[in-house]
Amino acid sequence: MVPTIHRAKPSDVEQLSYVCSRTFIDTYGQSLGSHQAAMAREYVKETFSIDALRRELAAESGETWIAVVDTTIAGYVKIGDDHPPEVVAPKNLINLDRLYVLKEHHGAGLGRLLLATAESRAKERGAGGIWLGVWEENAAAIAFYARHGYTKVGRRTWEYVRDGIQYRDFDDIMVKAIQR
Ligand SMILES: CC(C)(COP(=O)(O)OP(=O)(O)OC[C@H]1O[C@@H](n2cnc3c(N)ncnc32)[C@H](O)[C@@H]1OP(=O)(O)O)[C@@H](O)C(=O)NCCC(=O)NCCS
Repeated sequence: MVPTIHRAKPSDVEQLSYVCSRTFIDTYGQSLGSHQAAMAREYVKETFSIDALRRELAAESGETWIAVVDTTIAGYVKIGDDHPPEVVAPKNLINLDRLYVLKEHHGAGLGRLLLATAESRAKERGAGGIWLGVWEENAAAIAFYARHGYTKVGRRTWEYVRDGIQYRDFDDIMVKAIQR
C-alpha cells in the first residue's frame, strides 16, 4: 500500500496519541533505568494525552504531519519554531521537534518521506534550514539524519533530579541548511 502524507487534523488525535505514546516507549523504554522509565511514563501521559495533542494541533507555531498506510497512522513528524541552542547559527531555522515511525513500518521509506515533508514546509515558511536535538545514544536516528545531510554542530545537556538522584543526558544538535 502506497503511504500518503497529510497534515494532522483534530479527528486524527486519538490515533495520533496512540502512535506518539507507543513510538516513544518503543524507542527509549529498553534504555532507561527504573527512575527514568517512571519519568518517561509521566512524560508520555502528559505530552501525548488526547487533550495535550489537541492543544498542540491547534497551536499556530507547530505543524504535525502524519504518514498513513491504509487507514492507519504509521508515523509522524512535528516541526515548530523553538529557538535553537546557542551553538546553532544562523537563527532562522525550523525545529524538527519529533520524527517517529511505528517499528513494524521501519525501513519502508516513511521516515524519509516525513523528513522531506518537514524540509519542504520549512522552506515554504522561509526558513534557512532545520535544527534538531537527538539523544546521543540513539545511534540509529543519528545515522539516519547524517545520511540525509544533517551535521552535528554541538550538544545540549539535560539535567534532572528524581528521588534525590541527579541524572544527566546529552542530545546531539544537528543542522541542515535548505537550498532556496
Ligand atoms: C529514524 C526513523 C524515523 C527512520 O524511519 P524509517 O521509516 O525507518 O526510515 P526509512 O525507511 O526512510 O529509512 C531507514 C533507512 O534504514 C534502512 N533500512 C533497511 N531495513 C531497515 C529496517 N528493517 N529497519 C530500519 N531501517 C531499515 C533503509 O533502507 C533506510 O536507509 P537510507 O536512510 O539510507 O535510505 C525510525 O527508524 C524511527 O522512528 N526510529 C525510532 C524513533 C527515533 O529514534 N526518532 C528520532 C528521534 S530524534
